[in-house]
Amino acid sequence: MAEERVLTGITTTGTPHLGNYVGAIRPAIASSREASDAEHFFFLADLHALIKCQDPERVQRATLEVAAAWLACGLDPQRVFFYRQSDIPEIPQLAWLLHCVCAKGLLNRAHAYKDAVQKNRDEGLDPDHAVTMGLFCYPVLMAADILLFNATRVPVGRDQLQHLEMARDLAQRFNHLYGPHFTLPEAVVDESVAVLKGLDGRKMSKSYDNTIPLFAPREQLRKYVNKIRTNLLEPGQPKDPDTSTVFQIWQAFASAEETERMRQAFREGIAWGEAKRQLFELIDRELAPARERYFDLLAAPEEIERILRRGAERARERAAPFYEELKRAVGIRPLG
Ligand code: TRP
Repeated sequence: MAEERVLTGITTTGTPHLGNYVGAIRPAIASSREASDAEHFFFLADLHALIKCQDPERVQRATLEVAAAWLACGLDPQRVFFYRQSDIPEIPQLAWLLHCVCAKGLLNRAHAYKDAVQKNRDEGLDPDHAVTMGLFCYPVLMAADILLFNATRVPVGRDQLQHLEMARDLAQRFNHLYGPHFTLPEAVVDESVAVLKGLDGRKMSKSYDNTIPLFAPREQLRKYVNKIRTNLLEPGQPKDPDTSTVFQIWQAFASAEETERMRQAFREGIAWGEAKRQLFELIDRELAPARERYFDLLAAPEEIERILRRGAERARERAAPFYEELKRAVGIRPLG
């Protein structure tokens, strides 16, 4: 087993957008292609998806689209452990062992749960209105994802740091009771990776309905780029790159030199229409080849199914014996 195991999960709730690409897909795949002896585990968190989405067709469709997007962007399933969470029965089984060492008070403090409760209070509803046990226990399932493979590094967004702290807490608690089985995982938040802004200038996110789909066909992509909000400055008036969403997205796709050139163009008062036209071409240049692979993959779902099953088989070669060890450690073992 390699010294470093890098693991991250992708919740399969919607169609991948540019923010997912810049913030997660592109850096993760780049890291998996670097020459190093670290192992990489990228998985589709479809059990987590059920917490947010109870529409079976959408759960299935999102799983297909997310898998196709990662493969189209260059994920190599021979190099990376690429699997679907629900294909690894040891994950929910380990989650149970972790539930049994998890103080309820720990989960009371989880941000996602606290936010839901606060929102209910603000609206004069029962605090637990529409809060499922899935939402409440989310961090325990996530800890099982991580600890089952003894991941050492977990690339995540800032919003997930608390979940990583909880995974470490649970690992420590388990180790204290049953012996040193788990490695404590470290969160990795890459500050150099941009949190992309969306059409309205807020963080690009499905919950704000301001996203640009990663693989919108060329002409649709142009329309989306044209919808990015700008101010009313006329052509010829100098514009501030550092408060502009057009510029921020430009930066995420451009070389250092191209970024400098656009910065200069802003100073010189480039028209918004022209800046957007150039931005559209830049994004399209990077994504067009992957887009073609993406649509080919969507047309061959049985091929994706095969890749995921093979990935799960490889992952279970690790997971199954380790889970056996954990079961024995807690006392669930042959009687004689
Ligand atoms: N909770 C993560 C998110 O919303 C997704 C996720 C599930 C995950 N299990 C994980 C991330 C394990 C890292 C490791 O982004």
